[in-house]
Amino acid sequence: MSLLLLNIPRALGRRCVSPKRFNSSLVPKKNELQELITKVIGFTGPLPLSQFMRQCLTHPTLGYYTSRDPLGAQGDFVTSPEISQMFGELIGVWFYSVWNQQRCPSNVNMVEFGPGRGTLMYDVMSSFTKLVKRRHGDDSLSLNLIMVEASHVLRQKQASILGDSDVDATGEYWKGKSRFGLNNSITWVDTERDVYEVIDMKRDTNFIIAHEFFDALPINQYQKTEEGWREILVDVHPDTKEFVLVKQAKHTSACAIPESQERYNNVSLNTTVEISPESYQYSKVIADLISINSRGTGAALIVDYGTLNEVPENTLRGIKDHKFTSPFKDLGEVDLSVDVDFQAIAHAARDSHEVEILGPIEQGDFLHNMGITHRVKQLCKRAHDEATEHNIEKAYHRLVDKDSEGMGKIYKFMGILPKGYTTSMGFNQ
Ligand SMILES: C[S@@+](CC[C@H](N)C(=O)[O-])C[C@H]1O[C@@H](n2cnc3c(N)ncnc32)[C@H](O)[C@@H]1O
Repeated sequence: MSLLLLNIPRALGRRCVSPKRFNSSLVPKKNELQELITKVIGFTGPLPLSQFMRQCLTHPTLGYYTSRDPLGAQGDFVTSPEISQMFGELIGVWFYSVWNQQRCPSNVNMVEFGPGRGTLMYDVMSSFTKLVKRRHGDDSLSLNLIMVEASHVLRQKQASILGDSDVDATGEYWKGKSRFGLNNSITWVDTERDVYEVIDMKRDTNFIIAHEFFDALPINQYQKTEEGWREILVDVHPDTKEFVLVKQAKHTSACAIPESQERYNNVSLNTTVEISPESYQYSKVIADLISINSRGTGAALIVDYGTLNEVPENTLRGIKDHKFTSPFKDLGEVDLSVDVDFQAIAHAARDSHEVEILGPIEQGDFLHNMGITHRVKQLCKRAHDEATEHNIEKAYHRLVDKDSEGMGKIYKFMGILPKGYTTSMGFNQ
């Protein structure tokens, strides 16, 4: 196998703002996850990147997401819902418009993949339930929240912001009541497969949101070489004992994945592409969940940073303290993230069901189409002082601007709707 230089690639995504000052408590200490993965590689040989990433992010006790709340100014990165309530409110309006378009189905599950602190769901529910109650009455809908969340630390945060009662964590799934009325319940599950266990598949309409979730799903890397595709693996350097990337010397069955699709074969020689088997699985489940009921109703909104059409090339990066860093150091202390391949998600969804794909379009365009400037004016009118007004406008620019400071271009919105729903608010001006 040949050794590859560690690459901390150019970053499409944001997350790296207002660097924190050096924290002297962050002195190097024994890293249990590093020791564990080193041992595994010692026994089994080099690991596919997806296995390495999965352990780093969601190992039950040592993983990055399972052991902390990483969001916010004090954490490692800031996300759009944490910047302004407007972001989630407009997504709530989008789901309300789809609910209307689909003739107001009466049993709805609002499913969120990777809900973070629960901020996005809170804002989505605030506008969605307000519109439903105001225009259709309190009994028009039975609404259940389903949170697909691997981290128990973040589940506690979600429960505190969304819940209206103590959470019952004794059963297979955590359960609670939401504060939004409408015959509300909240259920927490670990993976996409568990969602099927807690819904009525024939009756329910599933509305699904995944914001900055797909970028955290593990990928595998493959390099196009003169001899054909070769997988890139994680190994331990024999002298330094550091993690390094190596290229497999021989063709393996895993290489059938890039070989099978034209868009991968069209890249130039020596390009390293990223393919995420878990994203494929999640996309198929999303398409399934919005297609399985007997009414033909449901919807999904996927929001993340990534390319509109191109195959992501070598984008894996580590993120710590609002800065990019090596993904192979301080394991479990560093967030790992990749650019999302929207075309692969669309492809997987279509592979599963005859769904309609809307977009992807840039975040700035989606939020403008949804009327963010009107919401800015409303909020500014209600502001009690100039400083608040200034902050609302600053948040607006951060969300929609397409320059290097803004999130309006690098983030994309993609809608998935059941067959026949070819248009919707937000995607059409
Ligand atoms: C980058 S955060 C995004 C949080 C939130 N959506 C937001 O925008 O503020 C990723 C979220 O996905 C969760 N997560 C990451 N990998 C997961 C997995 N494999 N299964 C379930 N949840 C996962 C994390 O715990 C976290 O809640």
